[in-house]
Amino acid sequence: MKQNDITKKIDEKLQGSATRYTQAPENTKKVFIESYGCQMNMNDSEIVASILLKQGFNTTDQIDEADLILINTCSIREKAETTVRNRLKHFNKLKQNKPKTKIGLMGCMAERIKEKILDEEKLVDLVVGPDAYRDLPNLINELEDGRKAVNVLLSKEETYADIEPVRLNSNGVSAFVSITRGCDNMCTFCVVPFTRGRERSRNPESILKEIKNLEERGFKEVTLLGQNVDSYLWYGGGLKKDFVNQPDEVKQNAVNFAKLLDMVAREFPGIRIRFSTSNPQDFSLEVIKTMAKHPNIAKHIHLPVQSGSDRILKLMNRKHTVAEYKQTIDAIRQYIPDVAISQDMIAGFSTETEADHQATLDLMDYVKYDFGFMFAYSVRPGTLGAKKLADDVPHHVKLRRLREIIDKQQAHSLFRMQQFIGKEVEVLIEGNSKKSNQHWMGRNSQNAVVIFAKTGKEQPGDLVRVKVNDCTSATLFGDKID
Ligand code: SAH
Ligand code: F3S
Repeated sequence: MKQNDITKKIDEKLQGSATRYTQAPENTKKVFIESYGCQMNMNDSEIVASILLKQGFNTTDQIDEADLILINTCSIREKAETTVRNRLKHFNKLKQNKPKTKIGLMGCMAERIKEKILDEEKLVDLVVGPDAYRDLPNLINELEDGRKAVNVLLSKEETYADIEPVRLNSNGVSAFVSITRGCDNMCTFCVVPFTRGRERSRNPESILKEIKNLEERGFKEVTLLGQNVDSYLWYGGGLKKDFVNQPDEVKQNAVNFAKLLDMVAREFPGIRIRFSTSNPQDFSLEVIKTMAKHPNIAKHIHLPVQSGSDRILKLMNRKHTVAEYKQTIDAIRQYIPDVAISQDMIAGFSTETEADHQATLDLMDYVKYDFGFMFAYSVRPGTLGAKKLADDVPHHVKLRRLREIIDKQQAHSLFRMQQFIGKEVEVLIEGNSKKSNQHWMGRNSQNAVVIFAKTGKEQPGDLVRVKVNDCTSATLFGDKID
């Protein structure tokens, strides 16, 4: 992957994406939703659009005509929050022209800073945390009565199971389906357990129903989403941590991630199934075997490791060693030889030495990841990292190490992509190539982007075979085989 491809990918993760279309002709009000951060946030925006649709709001991509502007925020790194603050400055001008427009913050930053954000950012009218979206109708009533409105309560049960998300910015081919919310892992660098609360799983029936609906509407791919999908456990509702207290009968009937994956794969043979994110300590052999068994489960595993040093992994409260991680990688490759594996890495965590950094580079050489998302450590207020550990790696050292990690990833990405040259790959067409409408863009099972010339006989949503003849570190190029 070229450096700018990698930066682009990171930017895409952070960039706001405006909503595109409206749904109910009788609705008179308009909401503009801008989303930052992870796929979970994108999906939450779709849930919110669905809740607001029933409150008389259609979505719009014209910010000037919006009655309500919602920013779905990210707190994962300081830069993500700075981006949102800068965006708010832009809304200031807008509000001067149209003072009645209400501005709301939703998502992780809303949860992290809570009502204090109302003092810090005077133009904000509404603050709503990730578990409180069902309360939006009441909160909006408060706004309409001229008050500011806040709900940042976290929940033990909320999974929005019954809410069919309005698919925003959709290509009509691929959709996100949330299966868990929150995270119990408490990695010391991570703000997510504080902003998204404790881990809980969604009823499998509601997951199957949502996918059925998508299938009926022509969707061909779903990504099952959660902070830690492999920890999925349905035992009737409630927090994952309370599972241990359940009676034996309840425990025996519980559905884990491997079972859910198997259920989805069997019920929807025509849908390609992806999932993200996998936490190494919860990634089981049962999941690997389920993937190997079903051709419609994509051969790609996102398996963030963060560091290749045991000492740093321990400080990060990651609950596995490098040796255990390597064993997992070996098992995956044994059962699914042509699998793609991707990573997240953090450069310059507290006390990281050159030797620790070298261990990360060595682990990368061992795995040769297909692609990855790489970051310089950013201290997050409220985390154990902020409270107990020094942010003692100088900024320029963090950046130099990050560069070395990115350079290595780029070399590995190119190596992985080159392995496809001369081979046939199965591509799910998503739409026009960004650079030319004479070409299609799609992805193969390993999640590699594939570009090929249109022949006039295929359309988005088709699964076609393409012979690969060229590549960059981020893209495969080829010709469709008739
Ligand atoms: N399990 C989650 C992880 C969310 S955060 C998921 O679904 O992806 C995504 C990535 O951001 C992490 O894997 C980590 O590499 C990075 N990250 C998290 N907190 C960070 C911090 N404080 N500084 C730098 N990178 C961080
Ligand atoms: Fe964050 Fe670790 Fe959970 S990275 S989301 S606390 S698995």
